[in-house]
Amino acid sequence: MKINVFLSPVSIDELYFTGKTTVVIDVLRASTTIVNALENGAKEVVPVATVEFAVKVSGGMFGGLTLLGGERNTKKVEGFALGNSPIEYNPEAVEGKTIVFYTTNGSKAIVKAKFSENLFVCSYNNISAVAKKLVELGKDIEVLCAGRNNAFALEDACCAGKLITEIAALKENIELTDSARAMQALHKSFGKSIFKMLKESEHGKLLIENGFEADVKFCSKLNSTDAVPSFMGNTLKLMPLIPAQTINEE
Ligand code: MLT
Repeated sequence: MKINVFLSPVSIDELYFTGKTTVVIDVLRASTTIVNALENGAKEVVPVATVEFAVKVSGGMFGGLTLLGGERNTKKVEGFALGNSPIEYNPEAVEGKTIVFYTTNGSKAIVKAKFSENLFVCSYNNISAVAKKLVELGKDIEVLCAGRNNAFALEDACCAGKLITEIAALKENIELTDSARAMQALHKSFGKSIFKMLKESEHGKLLIENGFEADVKFCSKLNSTDAVPSFMGNTLKLMPLIPAQTINEE
């Protein structure tokens, strides 16, 4: 099993992902929000790359059960029902709903990887469950960090490194590209206090300045859920749970 990490989607053509097994990470906050929307009973999350497309899709496809969610410059998009705070996506708000979801970086990264054979969404909240799922599949892995504004984001890099470390604990002889090795080193340096690393990251500081410190705290929670969002037919839904004993069977 080989693992590669991209630090941002900017330089990759969408066709690169055809047939690949891909994990998208946008810790602050899109991947954390998606994981928690589905954990809290949303029927599905439909990631989209533009606000215009979000409005178009929500109009016709899913009737009254559709909610528009997401952000621009950290704030809820005008006319949307929900922003991009994982805390907003509680059972009362999302149960049974289709969420059409636009964010500045995260939803776009998922759309970019849409041709993947397997596509999962990872945050600190569900990282062990994602690692188990990937080991169960046993395929080479592309980790796609959403980054920020087409550039590197420390929190996504550290989460990628933690995911690789979790996979390496479950499976021997994994091969890492240079970028994957570098992400592991970042996780070792910064991952001792995830909350501190998030708070001190550029994106974390911006969120705190805009009143979202509770979100940053929420995004730092490790393994609070086993929910593994998987992209199927243009929507993200939950993967079934994996019984632990099946993972080590060759
Ligand atoms: C994004 O996709 O860019 C983020 O989730 C932004 C945010 O923190 O709202």
